[in-house]
Amino acid sequence: MNRKQKQVNSWYKIMSLFYDFSMNSEIPPDARPIFFNKLNIQESEKGIELCSGTGLNIPFYPKSNRMYCVDINSTMMKKARKKANTLSYTNIDFVLSDAKELVFKNDSFDFGIFSYALSGTPDNELALSEMERVVKPGGRIGILDYDDSFRFPMCGLAKLNLHQLVNDRKNTSVIYHKPLATKTNRYSIYILKVTK
Ligand SMILES: C[S@@+](CC[C@H](N)C(=O)[O-])C[C@H]1O[C@@H](n2cnc3c(N)ncnc32)[C@H](O)[C@@H]1O
Repeated sequence: MNRKQKQVNSWYKIMSLFYDFSMNSEIPPDARPIFFNKLNIQESEKGIELCSGTGLNIPFYPKSNRMYCVDINSTMMKKARKKANTLSYTNIDFVLSDAKELVFKNDSFDFGIFSYALSGTPDNELALSEMERVVKPGGRIGILDYDDSFRFPMCGLAKLNLHQLVNDRKNTSVIYHKPLATKTNRYSIYILKVTK
């Protein structure tokens, strides 16, 4: 594990205490509902969320679909497991792993989720490539994130220019884009179709 990743892990170990409060007060309240609406998960589709954190997206998962939550940080994941238990989700597998080195075979999933994830992950291009590997051709990858991580406290550890990252890729094409904004930050939802 490189130095930047170690710093990110230490940051989230502390942040896990305040994460839900700080995210819920910072991001537009309609962002997650719009995101899941556009991802349009169908019955029996299998999904994976990379960098799933404390599981703030869990309430938006359908209870009938098999879901995998992957995060590198056990402190964040502990909170996500607790959320799943409290909300009676029995269809989620939690996998402690680096998003850049997944154990899953190629084309294992119908859809993938990155929410506020690429901005918090060093070498995020590699994480997106790994997601492209494990999602089937024709599948979708949903991304909800800061347009540009320059305001983000982790800036310098996990830099992100979302527009640049998702456009002109070899294995995916953008099929939906919606910009969102608060007074202090700009966000975007992207849905990519896997075309490999
Ligand atoms: C800003 S949080 C996002 C949490 C969640 N997706 C959400 O929407 O609230 C970023 C998460 O990425 C995780 N992370 C950072 N680098 C990672 C990596 N290389 N592999 C897996 N998870 C990583 C952190 O531990 C943290 O939980």
